[in-house]
Amino acid sequence: MNKTAVSSERRMKRIKKTPLFKGKGASNKPASPIKTLMRLFSYYGSCRAPFIAAVIAILLYSASTIAASYMMRPLVAVLEEANITKEAAHAKYLALLIGMAGLYVLGVITNYILNYLMLKCAATVLCDLRKDMFERMQELPIGYFDTHTHGELMSYYTNDTDALRELMHHSITQLIISVTSLVGVVAMMLILSVRLFLIVAVMGVIVFLTVKYIGKRSSKNFARQQKAVAAVNGYIEELIEGQKVVKAFNHEEAAVRGFDERNGELCSAATRASTYANIVGPIMNNLSHIFYSITTTLGVVGLVSTGSVLIAFLQYIRQFADRMSQISQQFNFVLLALAGAERIFALMDTPADIDDGDVTIGTGANGESCWRVPREDGGFDEVPVKGMIELHGVSFSYDGKVDVLKDISLYAKTAQKIAFVGSTGAGKTTITNLINRFYDISEGEITFDGIDIRRIRKADLRGTLGIVLQDTHLFTGTVMENIRYGRADATDEECIEAAKIANAHYFISHLPEGYDTMLVSDGANLSQGQRQLISIARAAVSDPVVLILDEATSSIDTRTELLIERGMDSLMQNRTVLVIAHRLSTVRNADAIMVLEHGRIIERGDHHELLKKKGRYYELYTGMFEMS
Ligand SMILES: Nc1ncnc2c1ncn2[C@@H]1O[C@H](COP(=O)(O)OP(=O)(O)OP(=O)(O)O)[C@@H](O)[C@H]1O
Ligand SMILES: [Mg+2]
Repeated sequence: MNKTAVSSERRMKRIKKTPLFKGKGASNKPASPIKTLMRLFSYYGSCRAPFIAAVIAILLYSASTIAASYMMRPLVAVLEEANITKEAAHAKYLALLIGMAGLYVLGVITNYILNYLMLKCAATVLCDLRKDMFERMQELPIGYFDTHTHGELMSYYTNDTDALRELMHHSITQLIISVTSLVGVVAMMLILSVRLFLIVAVMGVIVFLTVKYIGKRSSKNFARQQKAVAAVNGYIEELIEGQKVVKAFNHEEAAVRGFDERNGELCSAATRASTYANIVGPIMNNLSHIFYSITTTLGVVGLVSTGSVLIAFLQYIRQFADRMSQISQQFNFVLLALAGAERIFALMDTPADIDDGDVTIGTGANGESCWRVPREDGGFDEVPVKGMIELHGVSFSYDGKVDVLKDISLYAKTAQKIAFVGSTGAGKTTITNLINRFYDISEGEITFDGIDIRRIRKADLRGTLGIVLQDTHLFTGTVMENIRYGRADATDEECIEAAKIANAHYFISHLPEGYDTMLVSDGANLSQGQRQLISIARAAVSDPVVLILDEATSSIDTRTELLIERGMDSLMQNRTVLVIAHRLSTVRNADAIMVLEHGRIIERGDHHELLKKKGRYYELYTGMFEMS
């Protein structure tokens, strides 16, 4: 089985493990909802004016609907007046009806304005949130991505952001309207009749308890539904990625079975969640009818002095029930969305990758590149950039428990070529991860031209290193843009020159649109070898002092292999090269070969010396290289 299949298998194992599995952050109850809500509101600062205008519109809207209901009182009072002429009564009716219509029109207009403004604010806030989230993600240390799955990170941008959008588009607006209206309605009820209000208060408590009971069940099922959605999404995403493996191993039916399981759970959770959520509406309606009849009866029996007061009061009972119902229906959703917001804020609060390097790169007196090393007295020492890499007693562990590298010491002098060989998992890629400071070492020292790399600013360190990673990754864009990724200010000619060095020019010029051919989905429209050639060209265009090549292990046809080999060879000239080799040709002419096993260098020397030793290298050389 070739190495691609091996790594695809590993991925499938991950697929089996991941889905249900949104990981630790996936709690559906916010830890501190008020704090999160306040933090969310702080984002409204960037659209302060429209937000304040929206709140004013909400107050006007609530006031106008409350006042319109109050109009029933004077309208009925006209009926109750004993000695009033028919004409005078008509005139009063007309005036009151016009007033009432005016209030309703005001309600419609303010409702439109408040919705428009709140939507506008929500769009701005979401845009800012996504921006902050993405910016922080770019600053996070590589280690963060080891402990958070792809699906989990994606769910911050999809599920959680969608829930926040819903929250800001509808729920927040609804809640503010409901709460302000409720305050107004209660005030009006108290003005009209304290005795009747006391009865309403008792009924309110009954409603509250009923809603709380249903709400508990409903929120449990909402949480279940959110989890099930994440599981279904995660499963689909992973299976799209691994589609070739699924087909290659005839796992289609198993995949469908796995999907049915998760889909079934989603279906059941969604049904229950919506059943409970939808029960609230009818129950509230029925309760409001019952209260309505009770209040009417008590009113008629004589708890209130006049019919006009009773009619106006009954209007408010309806509004009271409506608002209570709206609040109770939004409540669970608000909690869910806030739990999502907390996950997003947790990502933003993750400490960024610290870069405390004070050594920068600059240009010396003769125009050559040099390191500017700060001195105690405030001046700088200039150290020419030569590309000498040394490791002294380096040990490293990814998880703080198991040492993946143990006591590694080696040096690569200017323009030397050092090759690393060793079985899979020996720690070869890890060494390169440390040199470019994807991770910092726990023990020992790595120096670049004699300077501890922890003192060098990351951007400058990485600027002098050219890396061809083991897993090639291409971005959606043209071939030219992908090569230019190596150095943003490279001209078209320089990119083409780099492609020639990498031996990629020939195949690129035979692509349908040459350098303007669009690459999609990680270069899926190219062969594996072609993708590697482009990533070599990308490293070439950056013209690095030190080149790190992590040879891809996939088997490719011999012609492409030859091309890659030649590409690499020309790229290696006059640079310090650290190469992780899977091909004999790459190793043979190295100045020194390090044989790694379980994180230790067990043999070192050049090709002939190591062969003579008849040790591990000899075994690898006579066994492994024949295979790959
Ligand atoms: N991000 C990571 N988090 C935790 N452990 C890791 C991580 N990356 C690698 N490891 C572990 O570190 C060890 C060395 O891995 P490394 O990738 O350096 O091997 P390698 O020699 O490059 O192998 P290969 O030839 O297959 O590319 C392995 O045991 C692996 O399980
Ligand atoms: Mg590797």
